[in-house]
Amino acid sequence: MATNKEKLQRTVRTKLKGYRVIVASNREPYLHYMKEGKIAYLNPPGGAAHTLDSILQACGGTWVAYGSGNADRKVVDQDSKIKLPPENPSYTLKRVWLNKEQVNGYYYGFSNEALWPLCHIVYTRPIFRQSDWEYYQQVNKMFAQTILEEIGQDKAFVWIQDYHLALVAKYIKEKRKDVICAQFWHIPWPNPEAFRICPMKKEILKGLLANDLLGFHLRYYDANFISTVEKEIEARIDKERTSIISRGHETMIRAFPISVDFQKISQDVESDEVKKRAERFKEEFSLSGDLKVILGLDRVDYTKGIPERLRAIGRLLEKYPQYKERFVFVQMGALSRVHISKYRDLNDEINDLVEKVNWEHSTESWSPIIFVRRTLSYPETVAFYRLGDICVVSSVHDGMNIVAKEYICAKNNLEGMLILSQFTGAARELSDAVFINPYDIEDFSEKIKDTLEMSKKEKTQRMARMRETISRNDIYRWANKFINDLVKTVKVLPRA
Ligand code: G6P
Repeated sequence: MATNKEKLQRTVRTKLKGYRVIVASNREPYLHYMKEGKIAYLNPPGGAAHTLDSILQACGGTWVAYGSGNADRKVVDQDSKIKLPPENPSYTLKRVWLNKEQVNGYYYGFSNEALWPLCHIVYTRPIFRQSDWEYYQQVNKMFAQTILEEIGQDKAFVWIQDYHLALVAKYIKEKRKDVICAQFWHIPWPNPEAFRICPMKKEILKGLLANDLLGFHLRYYDANFISTVEKEIEARIDKERTSIISRGHETMIRAFPISVDFQKISQDVESDEVKKRAERFKEEFSLSGDLKVILGLDRVDYTKGIPERLRAIGRLLEKYPQYKERFVFVQMGALSRVHISKYRDLNDEINDLVEKVNWEHSTESWSPIIFVRRTLSYPETVAFYRLGDICVVSSVHDGMNIVAKEYICAKNNLEGMLILSQFTGAARELSDAVFINPYDIEDFSEKIKDTLEMSKKEKTQRMARMRETISRNDIYRWANKFINDLVKTVKVLPRA
């Protein structure tokens, strides 16, 4: 039987025949930088770019993204292009160059100080600066222009990613109505009451409605988006087709819960390289004997509930000191968006909390929390998952959360358990996880205790069911479904 990957490859070959496939995102999948006088590369932290990399590797195509590495310009050709992945080139990345003012206004400013907090309901106030908005429009236009130049006169399907590029479809369609545009929004879409505070709301909605298909992780976000449109602009909702018709153009609205490469992760976790790295982590963090390992792996972002996690560990040890020296909590935190003051404040808060909990509960030979600020490579990430008896994902709000799914893929031996925030998109599918409300520190600490005590039999049964869910709906099925829905609903494409 064909695998999901083969099915996707067939779909792209047959149903998108004659079409150029262009993916556009802010974040690039590989970033080149100078390391000890030599050019090196890394995968930037964050799920979206990482999962799309698997799709492009399987199907080829061109990916347009902002070149953010300090050695990015050194490795591209005269068209700012490079073949990726570096070891086994199978697709093309075209880098878009931005100056400092554009990065400040478009990326830090409008994308991450306005849209990010606006869409995540975490009580961080969005900041709407007119100058950021102007840079956001300017950079979105640059992306559209780059894509149009790339397409030339060809037929094309442009797959736009995320909240950084909400106006790209509109700018493309202004020039080329026939280009198929579809967008996937990787973060939550808030309810209309939350969205209505945005001064640029109408322009953003109109920008998104230039797409032929607009995807969110969950039906709940689809419903929020549709109600937002109903309240804010003149448009007709077709409930039967779940679409929005605005100024004569129809946009299909659909839910596609994103996933991960189940097969690859579960194979790679058994490789010698990963096993060796796991041993090195064990030495580095002194993880020996019966010590249970609880792990966390996140970008240091205020949506991820990292302070809540540290408080819950502290509370557990306050109530049940008998757990001292029985576990260690290792948190990997990839530094993120540090030019934004909220992110710097969060780093300070985390430092204080780690210091406090460790001070209160350490013994002579043991500290409960190891907090490491490091961006892990893919093999290191998989090796890290290998070590975890428990993985904690405690986001206060999260569109999906890829770590939760990746951890489960890495547990071939079924010996592990996931503690998962009920406010993640992943919670809808992974119904066998141990659920927590990260705001409820008391219950959170009890759930950690329950998980530490959970029987092997219960853990393996739950893990097996969650692995079954992810293996069925992996990243290739996600992409296949997206493209099939597009082909079925958008009339200009050839029908199968
Ligand atoms: C989220 C967003 C992605 C983004 C990632 C990392 O997952 O949905 O689009 O790439 O965070 O954030 P960064 O700002 O480093 O790209």
